[in-house]
Amino acid sequence: MQPRDPMKARRGLGGGRVLSLVPLLVLLLVLCGCSAEDGMDKCKLTAESASERSVLNRLTPLLHRNFSVVQKEEKESYTYVFQLCGDADGVAGAGFVQKDNTKTTVVGRYNSTKAIGGSVWVLLTYDNGEKYDNHCDMANRKAFVMITCDRTTDASTLTVAEERERKECFYLFEMTSSAVCPPLESKLSAGSILLIVGLCLVAAYLIGGFLYQRLIVGAKGMDQIPNYAFWVEIGNLSADGCDFVCRSKNREEPNAYRGVSSEPAEEEPEERDDHLLPM
Ligand SMILES: *[C@@H]1O[C@H](CO)[C@@H](O)[C@H](O)[C@H]1NC(C)=O
Ligand SMILES: *[C@@H]1O[C@H](CO)[C@@H](O)[C@H](O)[C@H]1NC(C)=O
Repeated sequence: MQPRDPMKARRGLGGGRVLSLVPLLVLLLVLCGCSAEDGMDKCKLTAESASERSVLNRLTPLLHRNFSVVQKEEKESYTYVFQLCGDADGVAGAGFVQKDNTKTTVVGRYNSTKAIGGSVWVLLTYDNGEKYDNHCDMANRKAFVMITCDRTTDASTLTVAEERERKECFYLFEMTSSAVCPPLESKLSAGSILLIVGLCLVAAYLIGGFLYQRLIVGAKGMDQIPNYAFWVEIGNLSADGCDFVCRSKNREEPNAYRGVSSEPAEEEPEERDDHLLPM
């Protein structure tokens, strides 16, 4: 293999990298754009504040999903449907609805949202539901959704516990989700993001370099591999290094020793081979 012009090789690498970085950057930008809170702004906080908004944003993985639970009482059964900052069961403005055989009741609206949170939980409140007919002081219904940390699920099923015997009535729902867990996961995924970016760079280098060598330099065969001479050299150097460090020198002694004792035994088959060859 004849060594290539090092200047050419360097330019091949540079051109390839710049060219293939452009789509990579576009991809990263698109990914960032998608992960921004898309839909979360439909929730109106009753008292808008940055800290409450950031609590709400922890729930981003739960967006755009209907969660439902069936509650059976003696003769009736109710179905509750919850959606984060979106129309639960398709009912406009409702974040939480209760359905029975005859009607759908809005339990809470996402234009009256509150969110408080601790390290392993978020309590979401939807206020301003339909008024109670004849109990609970005929106040507006409201729903609490308690979401607690569970790393094994992105969103568990809902459970329900209605409270209507007290002065202040509410519907209480519980679910678990990894979304509200402390950011151990985001550290992990930062590591994997770095890994992915690293792999992308390697792939960009290989593909960009290959295309450059093939299309612009016009290389053929193994020469299409970017910086081929360099990598071959690295390979040889590390093989030499490994040979130097790892190989035990003792091996030559038994060789010499065996050479004396086993010489006749080794010669015989060789001779037989020579006889076979002309046939
Ligand atoms: C929620 O349920 C309603 C009614 O079934 C449906 O129209 C809507 O598309 C669902 N939304 C999502 C995000 O699944
Ligand atoms: C929320 O929406 C309901 C029904 O659309 C409306 O009656 C109510 O005034 C709104 N509340 C707020 C705080 O915007």
